[in-house]
Parts: sequence; C-alpha cells; structure tokens
Amino acid sequence: MKQFFGLFFLLGICAHSWTQPTYHIIPLPVSISYGKTQSQLGKSICIINNSPELQEESKYLSSALQEAGYEVKLTESNKDKNVVDLLVDFTLVKNVTLPASTEAYELVLQNSVINIKAGSEAGIFRGIQTALQMIPFHKGMSVKLPDCRIEDFPRFQWRGLMLDVSRHFFSVAEVKAYIDQMARYKFNVFHWHLTDDEGWRIEIKSLPQLTEKGAWRVPRTGKFGTRPWPLPDEKPTYGGFYTQDEIKEVVAFAAERHITIVPEIDVPGHSMALLAAFPELSTKKEPKYVSCGFKFSEWYPNGTFEMLVENMLNPADSRVYEVLDKIFGEVAMLFPGSYIHAGGDECDHRYWAKDESCRQLMQREGLKDGVDLQSYFMNKINSIIESKGKKMIGWDEILHGGLAEGAAVMSWRGMKGGIEATRLGHKVVMSPTTHAYLDYTQGDHSLEFPIYSDLSLKKSYTLDPIPQGADSSLIMGGQGNLWTEHIPTLSHAFYMTYPRAFALAETLWSKQESKSWPNFISRVERQMVRFDEKGRSICKSLFDPWVRVKKKNNGIFCAIESELPEAQIRFTWDNTFPDMSSPLYTGESLELPDGEVILRAAVFKNGRQAGRTLSLSRSEIMARAK
Ligand code: ACM
Repeated sequence: MKQFFGLFFLLGICAHSWTQPTYHIIPLPVSISYGKTQSQLGKSICIINNSPELQEESKYLSSALQEAGYEVKLTESNKDKNVVDLLVDFTLVKNVTLPASTEAYELVLQNSVINIKAGSEAGIFRGIQTALQMIPFHKGMSVKLPDCRIEDFPRFQWRGLMLDVSRHFFSVAEVKAYIDQMARYKFNVFHWHLTDDEGWRIEIKSLPQLTEKGAWRVPRTGKFGTRPWPLPDEKPTYGGFYTQDEIKEVVAFAAERHITIVPEIDVPGHSMALLAAFPELSTKKEPKYVSCGFKFSEWYPNGTFEMLVENMLNPADSRVYEVLDKIFGEVAMLFPGSYIHAGGDECDHRYWAKDESCRQLMQREGLKDGVDLQSYFMNKINSIIESKGKKMIGWDEILHGGLAEGAAVMSWRGMKGGIEATRLGHKVVMSPTTHAYLDYTQGDHSLEFPIYSDLSLKKSYTLDPIPQGADSSLIMGGQGNLWTEHIPTLSHAFYMTYPRAFALAETLWSKQESKSWPNFISRVERQMVRFDEKGRSICKSLFDPWVRVKKKNNGIFCAIESELPEAQIRFTWDNTFPDMSSPLYTGESLELPDGEVILRAAVFKNGRQAGRTLSLSRSEIMARAK
C-alpha cells in the first residue's frame, strides 16, 4: 500500500497544522495530511465519468452533491476543468496490492481537483463518502477546502447495523433511507430482522399464509409489553410485508452502496407470527395471534425469564423442517450475501420439556436437556441453510450444546459468547448489549424515554470488538442493533441510531489506537449539523447532564455527570433556571436539601448552555434513591 500511495504522493503537502481548517470526518481516516494550500469551492462541481465500471458511483455522487445544493456536471474528460469550481475524478487501479481490504482508497485534493483511487468499486465508494463529508452543504457562497491527502482502509470487514422491522413495520422507502444514511458512515452490512413475534415481513411464495396472517396484528397504542390482548373477532389491521420484488429492489439499492444485506428469520423462538399462520407447528398449537405488544414474557431479577405464551417451534415435528426448508430456500434466492441469520435467541425450553414428542426425540437422540435439543434444532437449520449454498449466523445462544463447523456467532449477551465461539473456531460478530444496543436509553430518564437499559454515546465509543482472550483472526467485526418495540417511526429510528452509530462506525473502521473521545466529539458536533440541515433529528443528550442518586449515611446524594469534553455543569435548588451565574458543580455529590426542592442542572461550554435543562423534583430524586 505504501508503494501504491507513494506513486501519487504530492509535493508540497506537509503535516497538518492546527492553525488551518480541518475536516471532521467520521469514521476517522487511517491517515490524513494537509497541504499548505486551499481549493476554493463555489456552486458547480464536475464529475469525470469515463470508466464503465464506475457508472453507479458517478450517478450516486452526482445525486448526493445535488442534494447538497450543488450544480453537477458529468463529463468524460477534464476539459471542463476551468469552468467549474471543483472536479472530482476517480480511477480504478487494478493489479495493486491493497492492505487488508478491498475497501481501501486514496483521496487527494489539490488545485480544485479531488482524485480518488482504489482497487475496487467498493473502495471508490468509500472514498466518495469521505469526499462528501469534506464538501459542506452549499449555502450560496464559496468556501475554502484545505488541500489534503488521505489514505484509508477499514479495521474490520463486518461493519453492521440491524433494523428490526417486525415490532414496527418500515416501508421500502424508509428502509432505503435507513440504508442510505448508514452508507454515509461506511457501514457495509445491513442486518434485516424480518421476522419476530410481532410480524412476519417477507413474502414466501410457497407459503402465502405467512404474510396473509403473520404480517398483521390488531392495532394498539401504549407501552410495548403492556398492551391488551386481541379481542375475539377484532381485525388485525396494523402491519405490512415486503413482496419479493420489493426485497430485490432493496437488495439492489444496498448493493449500489456496497452494502450486503443479511436477512434474519428468527427461529425457533420469537416465532409467534409464524405460528399465527401455522399454530400446529408449536407444542401447544398456539398462539393464534400475532403479538400486538401484549405481555408474553416475564423477566426475573436473576436474568432468567419465562414465556407466558408459547412462541417456539416444535423441534420434534418434521413439518417444521419442511416449512423452514421452503422459507430458507426462497430467502437464499433473494439475498446474494453469503450469510443468513437464523436467530436462536431467548428460547424458553420449558414448553419442549412438557411435550411428549420432544421427550421421545431427546431420548432417541441422547439429548439431555433443552439446550441440547436447541443445538439439535439449530444444527438441522444449519444443514438446511448450507443446502441452499449459504452460511448460518445466529445469536450467541446457538453455541450452547455444540454448533456445526462453519456457522458464525453474533455475540449479544456481552462478549463472552463471542470469545468462547472464537476458541471453538467459529467466526464472530460482536454486538454486545453493553455497547451496541441502539434501542437503549441514551440520556437521563427525565429527558429520554427509559426502556430496558441505558447506553450513553461515550460507552458505545469504548467498544473494542477484540476483547482479551478472543482469537482476533476470527472476529469479523461488529454491529449496532436497533430493536423497534419502542420505535414507531423512521424519524425516531434515526434519533436512536445516531449519534451512537457514529461511535460504532469509528470503532469498526478506524485504528483502535487513533480513537480519541474529545477529537471524536468535535467531529460528532459537525456531523450533527448535517443531520440538522437534512431536517433529521438525532439524539443530542451528549449535551445534557445525567443525574445518579445514591443513599449514603441517611442522606440522599445526587451526582451530576456530563460526557461533553471541556464542559461545566451548573445547578440550582431554588426553582430557578441555571445560567453561567449559577453554582458550578465540582464533582462532589450534592446532598438533597430539606423541603419541596427541585434540582435543575445544565451543561455549559464556552460560556453557553450546551443542551437541555434537567429538572428533578424531590419525589423524583427520592424514587431514584431506592
Ligand atoms: C436479542 O437481543 N434478543 C438478540
């Protein structure tokens, strides 16, 4: 690679100096050096489009630049150079040895020309993303772009985001918008969670009942897990599914962005929507409904859970495998990627233990418990998926009881499942709840909707997908997961995904040793402006305080935290709103004073309030002290 880049090294480019403007690119490129000169950019940009292999990339860049307010011309040579403000040229460089990945690229900006070179279309596309982050939205005046040279390639080959379209249905246009946005941050895997208890979302032509029944549920509002059951004869009107033509359209859209789609059919648990169509495939021949978000499981403080309604397929019924053979056969035809995700998470084996056919199967096969029985089931699914020319990946529970060679593991219950899987020779994607669950609450519960657990931006940023004890050669990368029980709209999907997906994008692309929280935040702030300019709201709890309450020596104490670098926290107890004259929080917890007080706190940076004011009444503070 050094040699490859060396060929194009520009004289006059020197190390970056802090007095110059810099770019705010996420994920941080492997290397960026700034020249002494700047290129002036007005309203017109010309893309040289003379390579037959790069037509898609030219088209993509052209429409992205138009969306950013530029006049764009496509030409075959640089003859227009003098009549436009900026020229973008990209070249496929075949027969070069690139480091680590086919997604490597080199980008040079000098004399108002951006030159992107790579060994593959994917590399060119990633370079285009960097160029798009260098070029601001056009606001009617010309800007100066610092000349620079970038060498870049990803740390991991699997840089994913998962979208759950079962708990809430997202239209084709919305799914495309989600994929389009993730492409901007160089993600390359879209994990499409297509089936769950709340809806079956993919047309299977040989089993039309799946979408006739399984794609629809009774409409309900209110908190997920508390909604009333369907009434007898109530019409299921909420839902939807993707036809196979629509799936092909989304696959093609993702492929234009060099994103592979990994479809998930979640079995043997999370199968209530499938069972609504085929109740005979469970041990209790239930349920007859797609879940509308009613309570069907109970979680206990020790981390165990119990299903209140069966949502599992019966592993002892041969018809289950016949149905799944048809399903995975059609799925394999639709998705060109090498992996199919088969779920395998959160199975309550007690239904199986009570069932005579399961007990007989266990005896016949020498399976000692439900874990062994699930392993038996998953290995049969692995064979079905392999028979379709694909490889299976599943949630880390699939490791228990033994997993077929060649199957990969997605580690979600922390990283220990992933570490163990690499020890056993399986490939792994790290997606731990602790760092990568994008549905978790991003800020203080008085400002952000509390769900199962919390995950701040800073915590997300600390992920290293290669933990101690893992065989790093088997770790393909990592992924953020957006479960949508509490996410009814695309806008809210963006709000929850970003900015934490910035943190994951950087973790999965950039060098671990170049990660820096303050530097990352300076770039996050610029990327937030881009979302604002598009009218897309993303979570800004980074600028808010976060209060933790503790009981100590009969007193109640409030610790106030902020993740914003170089910021101050100011607070009041007297029902006034904090400003720069309010007391400064020094880091020492504040004891709750007597009386009907309200704690108000806000984060200040450079003499200005950065985010929202948090307010907690005495009773709210007391409730947190429990
Ligand atoms: C999961 O979050 N149940 C994989």
